[in-house]
Amino acid sequence: MRAYDVIAKKRDGYSHTREELAYLIQGYLDGTVKDEQMSAWLMAVYFQGMTKEETVMLTDLMEHSGATMDLSAIRGTVVDKHSTGGVGDKTTLVIVPLAAAAGVPIAKLSGRGLGFTGGTIDKLEAIPGFQTSIATEAFMAQVNDIGAAVAGQTQNLVPADKKIYALRDVTATIESIPLIASSIMSKKLASGAEKIVLDVKFGNGAFMQKQEDALRLAETMVDIGKGLNRQTVAILSSMEEPLGYAVGNSLEVMEAVQTLQGKGPVDLTELCVTLAGYMIYLGGKAEDAQAGLKLAQEILTSGQGLAKLKEIVAAQGGNPETLDDFSKLPQAEFKLEVPSLQAGTIVGIEAKEIGLCSMLLGAGRENKESQIDLAAGVWLHKKIGDKVQAGESLATLYYSAEYAHRAEEVVEKLQAAYHLGENSEAKTLILRVLE
Ligand code: URA
Repeated sequence: MRAYDVIAKKRDGYSHTREELAYLIQGYLDGTVKDEQMSAWLMAVYFQGMTKEETVMLTDLMEHSGATMDLSAIRGTVVDKHSTGGVGDKTTLVIVPLAAAAGVPIAKLSGRGLGFTGGTIDKLEAIPGFQTSIATEAFMAQVNDIGAAVAGQTQNLVPADKKIYALRDVTATIESIPLIASSIMSKKLASGAEKIVLDVKFGNGAFMQKQEDALRLAETMVDIGKGLNRQTVAILSSMEEPLGYAVGNSLEVMEAVQTLQGKGPVDLTELCVTLAGYMIYLGGKAEDAQAGLKLAQEILTSGQGLAKLKEIVAAQGGNPETLDDFSKLPQAEFKLEVPSLQAGTIVGIEAKEIGLCSMLLGAGRENKESQIDLAAGVWLHKKIGDKVQAGESLATLYYSAEYAHRAEEVVEKLQAAYHLGENSEAKTLILRVLE
């Protein structure tokens, strides 16, 4: 087989065999397929697309391109959740304890954030003492013991994705649905979960800006899950404004705890109950999705979810008391209110800009080497549909002396990110569930 012929086949719009895809993936990893050949093939896929069968085969080959997690020592059906990411997305901190409290074993491997805000691992590290680096045996023992563990990824999962993603990033081939779907799903599947709940977001603060693209991505990922015998459900949710009010690591921990206390924002609570409800259903702890959602809500209302989060925090070396007393979480040196320049109704909030504001204050990584300031971020006071008076605060900025020189710039950016009008349209958070 020659890489040239495989590239030409995709360029001309034909479908690949499994052998051809395996030749490309393995060849690219061992160096027989060169960067320029893989780049040409990726561009051919960008224009010609891939069939469902090809996408399933590609995902399978990528999943097995390196180590995979064997979670068979965990009792019960392990269910995982993945979000395509967005601004203020702290759902993992809420849904892990909700689903675990219902008896669904959760073995969650999460990442750090590159860009606007931290990832789940950064957020958890805002809890003093919390350890996110756990050996695999101890990780699985904790899941068997208390029902859940959340750790950073240590093994070399899906090396093919690492190498191909880096190439896509510099060859303008990121934006291809089969490539995105196989990239995300290969990593999820290699993490060992039997069933998967996906939160696929659309909107200006999401990876997929357009609703129809997010829908196609969700459909493709559900098809991959089915094709590889791992039941997958995708929830299509809006990221037209930040999720909840808090954006920034320590601030997001506080909001996640408030949500588990039943005092969280309506949108965050609705999304978390839905995601956890589907996890409970897929994990076999509810007869159907409706019953799963009901159970998730009961666990939240009764405080069992918060109790479970405290158990997880204690098991991973953190101080659970910090969740009752937020003054024990990292605190910013400075606070600044952002006044609205006019009166009106909020008709839009550019979520991406709010993420950028938070990053400029130190809450996210501007590059791989950046150190995150766990206390920094933005706490919004107004969401779409709210009324505001001129001079009333839209948000509070939290930052340290190191970033104080940016405060004025962030105030202006944040004011510009809010769009005011007369009336706002009703917003829908969860658009569809795909099974
Ligand atoms: N996230 C991923 O993991 N892969 C992609 O291709 C795009 C977003």
